[in-house]
Amino acid sequence: MAFSMRFTILVLTICSLSEQTPKKHNGHFPKHFLLGAGTSAYQVEGAWNLDGKGPSIWDEFAHKHPERIIDHSNADVTIDTYHRYKEDIALASSLGIKLFRFSFSWPRIFPNGYNTTINPHGVKFYKNFIREILKYDMIPVGTIYHWDLPLQLYNDGIDWNHPGIVNHIVDYARYVIKTFPEVGIWVSINEPHTLCHLGYSIGVLAPGIKGDGKQEYMCAYLTLKSIGAIYRMYKKEFPHYKAKMAPALDCQWIEPKSNSKEDEEAANRQREFKCGMYYHPIFIGDWPPIVKERIESRRLKAHIKEPRLPKFTPEEIEYIKGSADFIGLNHYYTALAEDLKESDPNVMSYGNDVGTVNSFKPSWIVENNGLFSIVPDGVRKVLNWIKKNYGDHEILITELGVTEDGSSLNDNIRIDFFTDYICNILSAVYEDEVNVTGVIAWSLMDSFEWSNGYKSHFGFYNINITDPNKTRKPKKSAKFFRDLSQTRKLTCDKPNRDWPGPF
Ligand code: BGC
Repeated sequence: MAFSMRFTILVLTICSLSEQTPKKHNGHFPKHFLLGAGTSAYQVEGAWNLDGKGPSIWDEFAHKHPERIIDHSNADVTIDTYHRYKEDIALASSLGIKLFRFSFSWPRIFPNGYNTTINPHGVKFYKNFIREILKYDMIPVGTIYHWDLPLQLYNDGIDWNHPGIVNHIVDYARYVIKTFPEVGIWVSINEPHTLCHLGYSIGVLAPGIKGDGKQEYMCAYLTLKSIGAIYRMYKKEFPHYKAKMAPALDCQWIEPKSNSKEDEEAANRQREFKCGMYYHPIFIGDWPPIVKERIESRRLKAHIKEPRLPKFTPEEIEYIKGSADFIGLNHYYTALAEDLKESDPNVMSYGNDVGTVNSFKPSWIVENNGLFSIVPDGVRKVLNWIKKNYGDHEILITELGVTEDGSSLNDNIRIDFFTDYICNILSAVYEDEVNVTGVIAWSLMDSFEWSNGYKSHFGFYNINITDPNKTRKPKKSAKFFRDLSQTRKLTCDKPNRDWPGPF
């Protein structure tokens, strides 16, 4: 065989081998992989009634129902970012991060929710806020809606169970997009699943509705319609804008509790009801078939007349489909699902529709008041599941984080958490070829944690909420994250270290 022929065969063999062999990574970040940190308006701003801001449903919920917040607190002042934003943005920049995620407060801009009254002080605040982010060469990642619906709208009957919400949120989004063209990445709506499940079924988040198997689905329908309508308005009215837009969709990893067929199906069902309910309409079109079948068959069994899951019109299916330029993923835990054998067909609830019972392995650490488990390879599994089911899209992890009790600045748990989770994300990128382009750590600072009040500490900076000076104290993980941003490299020799048993 002539030398050149042999050489060609050799090169071809090496190339095809390297295509087949998964690329092991050595902890280095891909070239375009970005790190960030995030906050949201109600959790950090405070100044709840200052400078013309109107109240939101969260102000009302926390004031009227302190018993529904673990420490009976509220976010009237919280960590006072409204007055300290310069300091907070400087601290974010000192982490060396590129992405700064924050949210606009709808009632700070339109105090009563309607676009007929604009609050100039609110507009000025966000202008200054964004200018400050840009000063440090960070990219502003602006969330349009992170749960703080204007109270006046709610009192007028317009909320996530009233179809009128869609036009109002589009009016608000249009104003924000037009007024703040400096935003580099738009997040349209934060976590519609959590918003609808905890706000309209379980009632632990505002507006606190304990649903009877209808409200959560109406909320899902209207948040999806809003995601679609905001996106279509954006593309049509702002064709010269370059910033990408997507919702931040929460998706946790669900494993079957056993290898029985029933538990496998239960795990799949839960993924479809939690993640698929939002991913499917946006990336494929319409509700996931299993969700439709299950809700309808339970309705028929109970002889209920009215359908409980709103039906999308063909036009709605079309405009919701594709209403994201990337996948924004918020990921917090892994759970085990077991088939719920005895769900009463006459009790209409989302829980009975899903028909599963969740648990955690006893050896997992479970944080955030028993809600979030630490299972680093869960993130790799969920990334692969998303790619397999919804296609090879760019994924930006818009929230990922862990909490502790705030008693020490030596938050080794957060260092181990980010090391192991990001190592797993790198495995998904290099070995499984999932297109993850960045991770926004949640959260920049300890702040108001919704129903967990000030008991859950997610930040790189500790703040003792009773300290009148609200001093920001860097935790050990702040230095770790700064080093990581600079070196862009991790040691991933034990990406699933044996996390100790529960506390
Ligand atoms: C929310 C954040 C919250 C985090 C931790 C997410 O569901 O988007 O606002 O702080 O969970 O509880």
